[in-house]
Amino acid sequence: MAKPTSQATWGGRFTAGPAELMLKFSESVSFDHRLAPFDIAGSKAHAAMLAHVGLITTKERDAIHAGLDAILAEIAAGKFAWDVKLEDVHMNIEQALTKRVPAAAKLHTARSRNDQVATDMRLWFKHACADLAARLRGAQRALLAVATANRDVLIPGYTHLQRAQPVFLAHHVFAWIEMLDRDVGRLGDVAAHANWCPLGSGAIAGTTLPIDREFTAKQLGFVDAKGRPQVTQNSMDTVADRDLFIEFASACAIAGVHFSRIAEDLVLWSSTEFGFVDLPDAFCTGSSLMPQKKNPDAAELLRGKSARLQGNLHTLLALAKGLPLTYNRDLQEDKPPVFDSFDQTALCADVLAGTVTGLQVRRERCAAAVADPALLATDLADYLVKRGVAFRDAHHAVGAVVKVAEQKRVPLNALTLADVQGVHGAFAADWVEIFDLKRALAARTGTGMPGPKQIAKQFARWQKTLGRG
Ligand code: ARG
Repeated sequence: MAKPTSQATWGGRFTAGPAELMLKFSESVSFDHRLAPFDIAGSKAHAAMLAHVGLITTKERDAIHAGLDAILAEIAAGKFAWDVKLEDVHMNIEQALTKRVPAAAKLHTARSRNDQVATDMRLWFKHACADLAARLRGAQRALLAVATANRDVLIPGYTHLQRAQPVFLAHHVFAWIEMLDRDVGRLGDVAAHANWCPLGSGAIAGTTLPIDREFTAKQLGFVDAKGRPQVTQNSMDTVADRDLFIEFASACAIAGVHFSRIAEDLVLWSSTEFGFVDLPDAFCTGSSLMPQKKNPDAAELLRGKSARLQGNLHTLLALAKGLPLTYNRDLQEDKPPVFDSFDQTALCADVLAGTVTGLQVRRERCAAAVADPALLATDLADYLVKRGVAFRDAHHAVGAVVKVAEQKRVPLNALTLADVQGVHGAFAADWVEIFDLKRALAARTGTGMPGPKQIAKQFARWQKTLGRG
């Protein structure tokens, strides 16, 4: 037999090994080493299956298992010597096993790195989705605490960044919690889509050996709610498919958009002009020049990271779009963007939780802003509707009343009965009662509205979902 090149796993048909530059260019172990626990879990399940169908002995299986456990312990302890010459995480681990266990030469029976990497990533996605969902729950919990501590605070709600209608601050915070809740749901969907086992698809066309795909799937937890194994249904699609990468990056990018929008609200609210909140020093920085500055850097970076998360999604879409079936080496570039999306989304969720945990609401500033009677102009139109005026006419009449107040340079509720009756005869003496904020909020009784009864329901709902913390 010819002397093998440095590439013991595929070097048989080669006379020369790869150039140094090629190794540097093509290695992925510098980033895919983080798949090691999943790669080892996959290999252990595969070895168990090979023994189950009689392709290796139980003794060989046990030797492989013990060797893989020892390698995992070495990796966890930071003592494993990763070698870029061995390209990727899969070959590094297989070669390390080969040095310890003769049976390692049988581990790759009926397996290819193509179905192996697809399996590793599906296991990783399941783990990553659960991890991010837990962090998003943490951010939701921190937001719920802000709502709870400021339950009675009212603020103006905004459209077009113009004062629109009064809401409880809790209603605004609950909107943020809803956004993050959809992210948790989306990650759950991605995890469910990941829950199909690729092993047995081989390089592209399966294997001639009598393997048991369902056995492997069960070993790895690729099962439905009833514990039935779930295996992918087309070997070519299985090794070519990168939808999960795109879905995961998309879920992270959408979460990033949410972080960014929440952050933008916080940037505005913490400005001198709004002054609704003070952000914690621990998540702000100062200016090297202007001594008075306290800048909302954490919130701004939440906005900035959102662009990066969108970039990762775009990288993956572009990577996959022109590829012929099935596996192409381009696909190795699928991992850096998803790992980065995971890392940055995890950081963002934690930083959002940290930022809002130390946030102080400036009640007096909120009260001053929400005291603007113009916020209840729509309620005034509703008042006319209740007195039989068609809404379009009521809207027009209140618009005219606003104009009168502007001309007289007085707040809306400082006009006289004569002033408003001059605009529309349906105004009666009780018209000013509309400007009672408490009454205005109490009248909003429908589901999803910011009335106190509905807010109480939402508190109960989120306390149940998130725990009282
Ligand atoms: N490191 C490779 C990747 O991540 C593993 C699959 C290699 N397969 C191959 N046929 N060269 O894509």
